[in-house]
Order: sequence, then structure tokens, then C-alpha cells
Amino acid sequence: MAPRETCIGSVLCLMKALVLSGGAGTRLRPITHTSAKQLVPVANKPVLFYGLEAIRAAGITDVGIIVGDTRPEIEAAVGDGAELGLRVTYIPQSAPLGLAHCVLIAREYLGDDDFVMYLGDNFLVGGITGLVEEFRANRFDALILLTKVPDPTQFGVAELAPDGRVVSLEEKPKDPKSDLALVGVYMFGPAIHDAVRAIRPSGRGELEITDAIQTLIDGGRQVRAHLVGGYWKDTGRLEDMLECNRTVLETIDRSVRGDVDSSSQVLGRVVVEQGAQIVRSTIRGPAIIGRNTRIVDSYVGPFTSIYHACHIEQTEIEHSIVLEETTIRGMSRIEDSLIGKRVEVAPSTAMPRAHRLMLGDHSRVSVAGA
Ligand code: DAU
Repeated sequence: MAPRETCIGSVLCLMKALVLSGGAGTRLRPITHTSAKQLVPVANKPVLFYGLEAIRAAGITDVGIIVGDTRPEIEAAVGDGAELGLRVTYIPQSAPLGLAHCVLIAREYLGDDDFVMYLGDNFLVGGITGLVEEFRANRFDALILLTKVPDPTQFGVAELAPDGRVVSLEEKPKDPKSDLALVGVYMFGPAIHDAVRAIRPSGRGELEITDAIQTLIDGGRQVRAHLVGGYWKDTGRLEDMLECNRTVLETIDRSVRGDVDSSSQVLGRVVVEQGAQIVRSTIRGPAIIGRNTRIVDSYVGPFTSIYHACHIEQTEIEHSIVLEETTIRGMSRIEDSLIGKRVEVAPSTAMPRAHRLMLGDHSRVSVAGA
């Protein structure tokens, strides 16, 4: 089938974005029992915002955001999108019934416009501007992004013909046909709407976008793949969050806007946000200390992001992410950790000496020298 008419510069070529911020986030429990995984901060900015900024940078302003149970939290963070230069419409999804289900319920919002579908927990360095331009210039029915991964069984996997054509797609296959995983950014023309209506739920009970794209391929539609050169991560797991945090902190510039007392040292590329206080402490970059956070008699080591209004006292912490309004006192060393909102961590002084824990379901604790 011939490519659709090209439309550079044409007003008919309005492009929208569909950002997926529903879902359950089981691999980041217990954080995601109460919070949206798309709002976990990377270098003190929610993952979702990196995607929204990339969409805006590509010249797209109309964004539909799919929301589930965590809608109030997403809405509180993003609002109407005006601060990001976007016009946001929220599209509620009753349950996480699959990525293709998201397209199905967004039918009215999307109309017949081309759109980019962006998974709200995906983190892509380098933006999508070039891809959006490639898609707009060629008007394929779908443009998918692929990257080589060590364990393709965790992803949607594509098989390409020697000439680069997409031959088949399979969701989380036991025996992957290649090591090319689908990255969570897709571009679609209106043909996808018939495709998502044509498919049936998969073995895991979801309407898979991979099946819908396969339907396009089988129907002779133009489906192209683009290999992502830069860094990409699905931030679904703790290790991935820490890796993204490292990657972004590597790129920050030093900026100290909070107060640092004369007994403290702030070494290297460190951001100390407005209203933060560093008292008798050492911060070794790259690291970021959020608004109104107090660091007292402590050491904050490389690759650490402490979010807003936290209190860290007599503690050493490194290679970790701490969410807002959390207090950590008297902990000799914390590493490789993701600590949620309004958490309290402190040694016990009460007798008998014991670990006293109140942990959410699916928490993970690893106690040194227990
Ligand atoms: O990260 C890339 C992978 O994303 C692809 O390789 C896979 O082909 C694709 O299916 C997807 O797999 P995941 O298992 O990682 O998808 P997850 O369930 O984590 O959902 C991705 C995002 O979409 C997440 O922000 C939650 C949101 N979502 C998900 C579902 C299933 C919704 O908003 N609604 C849903 O029904």
C-alpha cells in the first residue's frame, strides 16, 4: 500500500499525543500501592514530565493522558498542562486492560489525527523531535521504535526482514525471534483504530498494541521501525529507576540556590534547590537536594536525589532516591535505595533493642549487620 499523502506545513496535519499513565506498577511496589509510578522523580523531576517535555519539544501541544486509579495524583501534578505549554485532556480507563485498550477508549479524543503514543513510565534521552518529523514527512501507518536489549523476554519483540521491514511483533515472548525490544514510543495514523477493534485479549487478558500493529502489517499497511541510538529505559523496576537517576545526574550543572553553612562542603556538580539547608554536612556530586529539604550532620554521596521537604540527619546516603517529606535520622549508611513519601527511618532507642518495622505490602528491607 502506498504511503499516505505527506503533510509538512499543512494545517490538516495536526498531530496529538496519547500518554499512558494508568496501569498498576506492580514491579515498583510498595511505592505504587499508593502512588503513580509515572510520578516517581528522576533527578527530582517526575518521569512523566520528561516525556511531556519531549512531546512539547516536538511541536505537539494537544495531549490526552490515560489515567486509572491514580488520576487525582497525576492531575494534581500536571493540571491542565499550561505550565508545560500543553493542552491536556484526561481520559479515564476503568482498569489496565492493555495498551491497545488505551487507543480504543481514546478514539473520540484522537479523531482521525495522527498521534504519538508515549508510555508514561518510559525514559528516553534525546527526545522524539526527529522521529515525529520522519513520521510527518512519510505518513506511515505506524512507526515503532526499537532497541537492542539483553533480555528481550521482558518486552515486546520485533522481527525485521533483511531490508528492514517489520515482519512480526510478539509481546514478552518465551523464545524471542530477535533482541530488538519495542521502546514505549509509537507513532500512528488513523488505520490503528480499526486494528485495535479487530484484536482479542491476549493470554494475560490485555489488548496488546503489538497485536494491533501485527494486524496492520498483515493488512499490508506501512509499518516502519526506527532503531533508537540513545539511552532508553522502562522505569518499571528499582534498578532501572536508580540507573535513570544516575544518567540524568551525570548531566546536571552545579547550582546552589539554598543555604550552605560554613561547616559544610558541597563538592562538584550538586544542585541545592531554593529553600534547602545544608548544615555541618558534605554533599558530593552529582547529587540534587530538593526545595526546603534540610541536611544536618550528614553525608550525601554521588548519584543521590533527595526530593522536597525532607529531613536527613546524622545519616550517610548514596546512590539513592528519596521522595518528598521523608525523614531519615541516625542511619550510618544507606545505598541503592528508593524511599517513598513521608517515610520515617531512624534507629530505635527503646528497650529491648530490636528492629521495629511498619512496612507496606511488597516492601523490601535489607538490614546491615542485623
Ligand atoms: O517499556 C516498553 C514495553 O512497554 C514494550 O516493550 C512492550 O511491548 C509494551 O507492552 C510495554 O510493556 P510493559 O509491560 O512495560 O507495559 P506496562 O504494563 O508497564 O505499561 C506501560 C505504561 O502504560 C505504564 O505507564 C502504564 C500504562 N498503562 C498500561 C496498561 C497495560 C495504561 O495506562 N493502561 C493500561 O491498560
